[in-house]
Amino acid sequence: MSGIAVMTSGGDSAGMNPGIKQFVEHSLERGLKPYLIYDGLEGMIDNRIKPASHRDVSGIIYKGGTIIRSSRSKRFFDKSFRQKAFDNLKSHGIDKLVVFGGDGSFRALDVFFNDFGVPFIGIPATIDNDIYGTDYCLGADTALNIIRQAIDDVRDTASSFKRAFVIETMGRDCGYLALVSALTSGAEICLIPELPYDLDSLGRRFKKEVQSGRTYIIAIVAEGVKFANELTEWLETEIGMESRLTTLGHIQRGGSPTVHDRLMGLEFATLAINGLLEGRSGEVVCFKASKMVYKPIAEVSSGKYQINSLHLEAGKKLAQ
Ligand code: F6P
Repeated sequence: MSGIAVMTSGGDSAGMNPGIKQFVEHSLERGLKPYLIYDGLEGMIDNRIKPASHRDVSGIIYKGGTIIRSSRSKRFFDKSFRQKAFDNLKSHGIDKLVVFGGDGSFRALDVFFNDFGVPFIGIPATIDNDIYGTDYCLGADTALNIIRQAIDDVRDTASSFKRAFVIETMGRDCGYLALVSALTSGAEICLIPELPYDLDSLGRRFKKEVQSGRTYIIAIVAEGVKFANELTEWLETEIGMESRLTTLGHIQRGGSPTVHDRLMGLEFATLAINGLLEGRSGEVVCFKASKMVYKPIAEVSSGKYQINSLHLEAGKKLAQ
């Protein structure tokens, strides 16, 4: 029986556990022997690799983070450690890999493939939602919902106290989390690396608004802008509003995966395994074309809505 292993690498994100559960279940359905690699690339080097059964993944679907833990490995850049990792895989009979992570992890696995020819497929998973080629990375929706809750809560106290609040979000160099959060929370200011900002213009606007009765301000700043402290000070000195900074930090990486992330975890894991069985390697499962289009009424009323075929296929085992 052919061995297939999964690992989570780099920053953890919600949705990894539902993905791991589907990885094990779908591998078994497809006649493969699933393995879990603990602690990412580090665990592959140190042989923290265990065969998996249904029992290992029952009751994990609602859990945030990753039950097989993650790491950022420096040793993997050294070929002697990659050789160790390969010897470990060989000793278990593992000849296929699935990796949840970011582009850094995918590049590391690509080097490994060039060294030893072990096919792998990547699943984009990072709250930053910043991987080129895919519209969605696993975990972003859960992080957005954590941020939304935090902003809603901060708004309660901001409005009770006539204060300005700056809320700093994660995202590394990408402004996705900050921008989507600001747009869906009714924030007054949003600073992200992708957009230039103009403090003079913001100053003119908010001085006027405060004069005509504005009592509080919510500003969302992406960590990549590196301006949260400065903006808090500016709101106090220039706009004349008592100001506070809330840095959300790692709470954005935690939390029970949303329905969207559970479903995406299932889809990503299924396609990764199917892709490997079709002989694919060195590829990333990407979610594309989530866009609005116009369609004539005649077309919209001419047929019956079809549930996503992958969901139907996954649901079959619950009905038979
Ligand atoms: O890439 C995910 C992320 O949470 C970024 O948003 C953040 O900049 C970084 O990881 C934090 O890294 P660490 O967990 O190592 O502090």
